[in-house]
Amino acid sequence: MSTSLLGSTIIKLDAIDSTNDYARNLLLKDANIADGTVVITDFQERGKGRRTKTWISEKGLNLTMSVILYPVSLKVIDQFLMTKVVSLGMMDYLNSISDDTLSDRLRIKWPNDIYVGGNKICGILIENIVRINKIKVCIVGIGLNVNQEIFPSEIINPTSIKSELKRSFDLDQVREDLCSYLEVRYKQLSGLDFELLNQDYEDGLLGRGEMKNYQIKGKRVEAKLVGVSNFGELVLESQDGPRIVCDFDQLQYVN
Ligand code: BTN
Repeated sequence: MSTSLLGSTIIKLDAIDSTNDYARNLLLKDANIADGTVVITDFQERGKGRRTKTWISEKGLNLTMSVILYPVSLKVIDQFLMTKVVSLGMMDYLNSISDDTLSDRLRIKWPNDIYVGGNKICGILIENIVRINKIKVCIVGIGLNVNQEIFPSEIINPTSIKSELKRSFDLDQVREDLCSYLEVRYKQLSGLDFELLNQDYEDGLLGRGEMKNYQIKGKRVEAKLVGVSNFGELVLESQDGPRIVCDFDQLQYVN
């Protein structure tokens, strides 16, 4: 597979605070950064996760990169489509290298963590630059655990490709192949193929259709995850109550 857009320009850095922050500064300084530019580093000194968390990744072992994208006519209210694009591109890539045991356990933990069974293999942080009611630029930050097998204890339930498949992967090859899969999904967005993105995303969701315990707005609830709203909120159904629609800050998963 080859790409024409994603990764056509690659900025490779030995170390940097955060590839997302580097990409943002680049955009502030230069209005002509090419669509699909990838900023990638061996080591982040202050890697960012969602909800002000940090992203910790051992030097030279994993993929830490940000992709700069200019989606055509993506409205702010439709921004969750980009989350679907990136989660699905990552799922497609991981499926392409997986054996059956790994494929069966790969899921998207809403909104955009990629899990193998109960363990996190990839985190995604999408930061948007907005103009009026449109997304002008997306900075798509991806942290994929590739060759790291031993993790610091503060990381909860981590896993990596090597931990799952028992072999090492060449990081340049991982970047190249991942970009191809992301590009296929990105083209589905540009081609307005929302139906496919919505369906595949919902099919990949962890816990979909299963009764599970959640903590929603501080209350413990047993509910079935049924999908996501157009705005990316999680939609659940409790046994006899009404549908519950909640966003990221209102929900916690309970084992
Ligand atoms: C999360 O799971 O909370 C999101 C983690 C996102 C980590 C990636 S690594 C590359 C990019 N640069 C950052 O500072 N964060 C993202």
